[in-house]
Amino acid sequence: MKGIGVDIIDLERLDIHNLNFVKHILSPKEYQIFTKMNSPKRQLEFLGGRFAGKEAYMKACHVGIGAMAFHDIEILNDESGAPYLHDSHAHISISHENKYAIAFVLLEK
Ligand SMILES: CC(C)(COP(=O)(O)OP(=O)(O)OC[C@H]1O[C@@H](n2cnc3c(N)ncnc32)[C@H](O)[C@@H]1OP(=O)(O)O)[C@@H](O)C(=O)NCCC(=O)NCCS
Repeated sequence: MKGIGVDIIDLERLDIHNLNFVKHILSPKEYQIFTKMNSPKRQLEFLGGRFAGKEAYMKACHVGIGAMAFHDIEILNDESGAPYLHDSHAHISISHENKYAIAFVLLEK
């Protein structure tokens, strides 16, 4: 299936200290990366980018929240820092600035 999806997140809505919530959003590998980050600002950006990226991926797949678990979707970064999804047919771009994180996903097949 082809599709596009976009999502924007207000970072103030996210609580990086609620680890149950964080684990609900992040895959186990993402959670490991999150716990090794030493700045709360970087953790918030990372979590917000993943949250927005996963919602954008669900939109690109034409499914709503609830059809997939957030922690089953994985967004890692390659050696250049570029993000990639567990789904090799999906392309993702993430940005964050001050209060917001935004992500765009393109599903090619
Ligand atoms: C890509 C870059 C311009 C983004 O900078 P920015 O405007 O300060 O940051 P933004 O908030 O808009 O974007 C940050 C997100 O960009 C993405 N990103 C980082 N590096 C990237 C890259 N090389 N290509 C595509 N996306 C990239 C990441 O998803 C990152 O968020 P995350 O780390 O939480 O996943 C900057 O990170 C950069 O110049 N990186 C160096 C890339 C590089 O020179 N790589 C080496 C050779 S390819």
